Amino acid sequence: MRILSIETSCDETGISIVEYDKNTNKYKILADSLNSQIDIHKEFGGVFPMMAKREHGNNLTDLLTSCLHKVSSSDTSSINKENINFDFLSREKELEEKVKVELDNKDSLLYKIPDIDYVAVTRGPGLEPALWVGLSFAKFLCTLWQKPMLGINHMEGHISSVLMESNVVNFPTLALLISGGHTELVDIENWGKYNIIGKTRDDAIGEAYDKVARILGLSYPGGPLIAGRAKKLREMVSDKEIQKKKDSFSIKLPRPMMKTNDMDLSFSGLKTAVLYLARDLKKNINTETLSDEIVDLICHEFENSVMEVIISKLNFANRANERKYKNLIVAGGVIANEFLKEHINMWCEDNNLHFLKPDKSLATDNAVMIALAAIVGLNNNYIDIVTPGSDDFINMIPDGGWSLGNI
Ligand code: KG4
Ligand code: ZN
Repeated sequence: MRILSIETSCDETGISIVEYDKNTNKYKILADSLNSQIDIHKEFGGVFPMMAKREHGNNLTDLLTSCLHKVSSSDTSSINKENINFDFLSREKELEEKVKVELDNKDSLLYKIPDIDYVAVTRGPGLEPALWVGLSFAKFLCTLWQKPMLGINHMEGHISSVLMESNVVNFPTLALLISGGHTELVDIENWGKYNIIGKTRDDAIGEAYDKVARILGLSYPGGPLIAGRAKKLREMVSDKEIQKKKDSFSIKLPRPMMKTNDMDLSFSGLKTAVLYLARDLKKNINTETLSDEIVDLICHEFENSVMEVIISKLNFANRANERKYKNLIVAGGVIANEFLKEHINMWCEDNNLHFLKPDKSLATDNAVMIALAAIVGLNNNYIDIVTPGSDDFINMIPDGGWSLGNI
């Protein structure tokens, strides 16, 4: 089985082709093209939905053709430009223009039906203007090649991203999803059976990293920058010395909701605490900008707070539930963080859970994870296969708030 997948839910444009071999139960990435818009959004310190939408429209056609080069196709004369239906692209100006330019080349691979079985596309959750671009492109391609379409949940994609590393997942499994838009604890009874047992009441963890970075004058995305500073400090200075320095500047941050007897989280207060701490430190030292030393110490303290809260919530989730979890899946962009990974790994060892995480290349948003979720949904018979031209196909629209609980 071969899936061509499209991801455009936030600020990464991705297209991939993934093959699944039923006999060996193995997944193989045949093609994977990803375009990050980080440099564009950097200037504004966050993602602007309409800008993300425009960039997806500009990127998708080139990413697709680079993937199509990697798979064979059946040469066909059945597609000619006069008969092509562009209706599904009419709301996506940039994309329509790019596709038309591509089709001006009579040798374009778009005229050849690729050797794939389905087109899978992220339908939500995410930024709706951005999701629309991917879905419109999927509808256009499915109509062009007469291939069935699959609408995929982005968060299920993050969960499925571990399959490239560990192709068998035993259930029940606990999952911790930590990204720029989501922070959720999920009880997984089986593939497709997701129950959100805890989530953030305000900011997501990645969002907190990004906002704290902005307060400290660091660039976007803040996660890797905060992580890098904290890591450097841990490597160069002993824990005792770090604590002494923190005490001398009164650098101490709260551990929000760490002791509440539930699985919910909150990071907005932590971000505000950093804001006040930075303001007070500037006032006390009478300076406009904080020194590198102080910024490093705040990054270190912030990361300790996040880690301690996460571990305490994992404890609640593992104990509160009657299930005996076999695995902990941790996915989403923030699992690129080595410090969190190390501590979660130790927690899994202490609690006899198998720790499943994606390879670093699949931690942040990508199209491979969307193909993996599609394969899982097909193999477990819970995904709708939507035929081009059907009412379900025509009426499918993005769902920016699509929860895992409603799959
Ligand atoms: O999953 P993702 O690519 O996009 C969303 O679906 O949100 O996650 C992006 C988030 C950003 O907030 C980014 O700052 C964070 O993941 N991130 C990190 C690290 N690398 C990326 N956070 C902490 N430490 C990192 N090393
Ligand atoms: Zn994501």
